Amino acid sequence: MSEKNILALSGDGIGPEIMDMALDVLSAAAKKTGLSIKVEKDDIGGTAYDRYGVPLADETLDKARDADAVLLGAVGGPQWDGVERALRPEAGLLRLRKDLDLFANLRPAQCVSVLADASSLRPELVEGLDIMIVRELTSGVYFGQPRGIETLADGTRRGVDSQTYTEAEIERVCHVAFDIAGKRGGRLVSVEKANVMETGVLWRETATKIGIEYPKIELSHMYADNCAMQLVREPKQFDVIVTDNLFGDILSDCAAMLTGSLGMLPSASLGAKRADGRVPGVYEPVHGSAPDIAGTGAANPLAMILSSAMACRYSLNASDCATLIERGVETALAGGARTADIAKPGEDVLTTSRMGEAVLQAIADL
Ligand code: IPM
Ligand code: MG
Repeated sequence: MSEKNILALSGDGIGPEIMDMALDVLSAAAKKTGLSIKVEKDDIGGTAYDRYGVPLADETLDKARDADAVLLGAVGGPQWDGVERALRPEAGLLRLRKDLDLFANLRPAQCVSVLADASSLRPELVEGLDIMIVRELTSGVYFGQPRGIETLADGTRRGVDSQTYTEAEIERVCHVAFDIAGKRGGRLVSVEKANVMETGVLWRETATKIGIEYPKIELSHMYADNCAMQLVREPKQFDVIVTDNLFGDILSDCAAMLTGSLGMLPSASLGAKRADGRVPGVYEPVHGSAPDIAGTGAANPLAMILSSAMACRYSLNASDCATLIERGVETALAGGARTADIAKPGEDVLTTSRMGEAVLQAIADL
């Protein structure tokens, strides 16, 4: 198998700590499964701003475009709160998504059964939970024009954001969601607010039209507010959810927390398959940069480790390596390995690197 190039952008806060663990685990699993990888590191977010004066340098973007997969830690921190919006850490992340055209954001929310009682919902509501949220990532209100804050004639100010979607943008993310539903439970819920939004009407019509091409998938529609309510009422009713950028941002945080452990959840942001068959992707934890615990060894590296598994599965064509990493994580958890965020009172708490070592040990033994 040819060598795969991985670009690792650790970012800010706990990013570097969890990235180190993920790279150790990835290289161990790659070695064991015969996957040849080369890793290059660069900066994104506040760290990049401090080094390059921008949260994502052009050269870094070029490297990301050339890489077979990009691993990303997290961006943001209070030290950059005063920086103008276009140069804020988050702007680097949004530019990476937009410029690589990573329109499909896959956010699985799976509840590991040994952690079911860490959820804020009753264990029986979340045990076995396995939802995939497919969030549109490069359009909608995040990027729609016009936007800005204008001063009106009377001297008061008005903020403007625009929610825009073209049919093509909705179609391509729906295709991804229907394909994924076909590989899972065969049920897709399309989420919008067609009762109040024009983009919602177009979204519903487009999802319905694309659904005709997937007769085996059971498609239903739900308003976003109802979806939020159903997620906390009876989350196991869902298999795959497809929704726009903003609703996806909100609903995926909600779904993530159902599992009781935000520190466990990976994500993949995918673009269209290229002519050479490669699928560009950025793989990052759903959680943020947690600046309050950065450098303390308290961060849970599992979401980052599981993100590297997703990279193997979706971009590196190495599903056996992905499975090995995932089984390593399951085995470590089953053996009682817990970081502070998932430990119950009285349980031993591992540091970030000890958790990484527990996964490495499990992979060595598997
Ligand atoms: C996410 C984050 C980002 C988003 C922020 C950091 C810009 O919340 O990935 O969900 O809103 O998309
Ligand atoms: Mg978010």
